[in-house]
Amino acid sequence: MKTNHLIYLLGISMLFFTCSSSSSDDVNPDPDPGPTTEVTYDDDVKAIINSNCTSCHGATPTNGAPTSYTTYNQVKNDADKIISRINNAGSPMPPTGLMAQSLRDKIQQWKDDGLLEN
Ligand code: HEC
Repeated sequence: MKTNHLIYLLGISMLFFTCSSSSSDDVNPDPDPGPTTEVTYDDDVKAIINSNCTSCHGATPTNGAPTSYTTYNQVKNDADKIISRINNAGSPMPPTGLMAQSLRDKIQQWKDDGLLEN
């Protein structure tokens, strides 16, 4: 009889303990702000330039290229010139021909989003 009472009391107190310790887990004070969708130099533009431009527009420009496009500032400062030439079918950059529309759109979107670095 004594043992039954003890087990009963133990059960009750564990119930209280469980309830009080789990209550704080129900609150989420930091709602997910969601992923950022802006185009940035680090996430998007750099890879396109590295694949299509820096063979000539490298840190030391080659093949007659007049400019280096290996840093954020260099690409940002020439963004208007770059957008103009990558869409110029008569005088395209790269000189071998226009890149895929999706890549050209990305660089235009980068400008529209404010030429963000990252
Ligand atoms: C095969 C070498 C080569 C590649 C690859 C290349 N360029 Fe050029 N680029 C040149 C040469 C040579 C010139 C100078 C002659 C001219 O303007 O057509 C030039 C000029 C430019 C100019 C004009 C710069 C100025 O100050 O007038 C821009 C802008 C440009 N390139 C952007 C790009 C971009 C962006 C890419 C990649 C998408 C690229 N180029 C890829 C060789 C290249």
